[in-house]
Amino acid sequence: MTYTLRDATPDDIDDIMRIEYFSFQEGIREDEDVFRKRVEVFPKGFIMLADETGASKGYFASEIWQLPAFKSSGAGVDASLFTLNHDISDHHTESGNTLYISSFALLPECRGSGMGDRFFNEAVARIRLAFPGLTQSVLIVNESWVRARAIYKKRGYEECGFIPLFFKPEGDAPQSAIIMTGALS
Ligand SMILES: CC(C)(COP(=O)(O)OP(=O)(O)OC[C@H]1O[C@@H](n2cnc3c(N)ncnc32)[C@H](O)[C@@H]1OP(=O)(O)O)[C@@H](O)C(=O)NCCC(=O)NCCS
Repeated sequence: MTYTLRDATPDDIDDIMRIEYFSFQEGIREDEDVFRKRVEVFPKGFIMLADETGASKGYFASEIWQLPAFKSSGAGVDASLFTLNHDISDHHTESGNTLYISSFALLPECRGSGMGDRFFNEAVARIRLAFPGLTQSVLIVNESWVRARAIYKKRGYEECGFIPLFFKPEGDAPQSAIIMTGALS
């Protein structure tokens, strides 16, 4: 697939919610209002992946936080910073040093051939270029999302914390979250 990356606009909200629907279980999915605000507040950190026809195939959502420098791998990050459906305005500041990746997903038809890894890498690079003050990055991942975990590990992120039973999918047992951090250079 030939693909392009572009900043999201409010007109993308239906496509974003469709990708969200096909990517996360009920109880883990985040709300339309939350996504709408992410796009409005930080469009340069909300990146769409489009195919050659312009159709949206994936999204990458982020915020910029100001956090103490992660000393090394294994350095702790305050687990209370992470909540599903939180308001981007709670911590976002464009002069900050930390890229917080709040969500990232591809439509199922595009998965499994390396597209997720390429999209992740290019989205981070694009934001890093626009915000040179970014020196580090943080995210959380469900312990059972093996593909996402493989991408983050390959891209230099290391596990530095654990939030027991963070994800509560409807009709399924709760699952824990892993906090991962990485340097941006
Ligand atoms: C996460 C997601 C974007 C990854 O995209 P993708 O195109 O499927 O991923 P890729 O094809 O780039 O593969 C990623 C890695 O997973 C690995 N992988 C695939 N299946 C695996 C499995 N069962 N166990 C372990 N690793 C696996 C691949 O080998 C690859 O690693 P490599 O590059 O070192 O070989 C996509 O799967 C998705 O949208 N999932 C649902 C939403 C989600 O989980 N988002 C993450 C939020 S934190």
